[in-house]
Amino acid sequence: MTTALEGRVAIVTGGRGGAGRAVCERLEREGARVYAADLSNEGTMGDAPAAGEFVPFDVTDEAAVIDGIATINQDCGRLDIVVNAAGIEIEKTVEETTLDEWNRIFAINVTGTYLTSKHALPLLRGSGHASIINFGSYDGYIADPKLAAYCATKGAVHMITKAMAVDHGPEGIRVNAICPGYIDTPMLEQFYPDGVDPAEARAEAEFVHPLRTIGTPTDMANLVFWLASDEARYATGQLWVLDGGLSAQIQQMRF
Ligand SMILES: NC(=O)c1ccc[n+]([C@@H]2O[C@H](COP(=O)([O-])OP(=O)(O)OC[C@H]3O[C@@H](n4cnc5c(N)ncnc54)[C@H](O)[C@@H]3O)[C@@H](O)[C@H]2O)c1
Repeated sequence: MTTALEGRVAIVTGGRGGAGRAVCERLEREGARVYAADLSNEGTMGDAPAAGEFVPFDVTDEAAVIDGIATINQDCGRLDIVVNAAGIEIEKTVEETTLDEWNRIFAINVTGTYLTSKHALPLLRGSGHASIINFGSYDGYIADPKLAAYCATKGAVHMITKAMAVDHGPEGIRVNAICPGYIDTPMLEQFYPDGVDPAEARAEAEFVHPLRTIGTPTDMANLVFWLASDEARYATGQLWVLDGGLSAQIQQMRF
């Protein structure tokens, strides 16, 4: 029996983080050869065994990006799927954010997406099934308090997604973004307020969702898989919000 991504090659930046790890596992299960491109083989999740071949990759370093993609070309001679999942969050207002912090978050979340996509394009052109999937956020649509620079980076990721879809659609390259709400990863734990019991913070986070639950890395991987597959052949240039209904409702009073 063949699987949906048999013979395809994928790179997942942030592939050792919470969401990236689940994406690597799902794409591999669907038959793709997967490269997990991250700063370290442990990423943010500790050293549990993870799917995909690790390739050292700093998305802010153009030479490292070129090297990583050259390694994939040498090994496989092709590339079909690019998942830009590397990202960081800084919990500050504009006034509190230093220029170094501002430049760092843009370098990882925005420039990293640009550099990886840019240097993958020559290989993607030969794919016949090329799909780029960027990690945006519901924070690229609506703002959380004290996440100013993060929100700005995700708005930029949303627009590079549309711009690339327009430029590269005629070459057969689809470009989409997934826009998660809360995903149960180390990044979300970092988002919970200091001094609040983590179990209490989690219960409150669940409550604000119409589905009364937060998303899992597997939920994200399911959508990434579909966008990477030929079933999504007509899907491009779109921002796919996956947030348990969080952004569909007006904030509710709690009685
Ligand atoms: N967790 C959430 O609630 C949430 C919500 C919306 C969007 N997102 C987005 O989803 C994506 C994945 O986030 P996550 O929750 O898995 O976070 P995470 O912190 O668990 O993983 C992020 C990964 O990116 C890697 N990374 C950081 N800087 C890098 C660099 N310079 N080069 C290469 N890799 C680098 C880290 O090592 C880590 O493995 C991010 O883009 C994030 O902004 C997350």
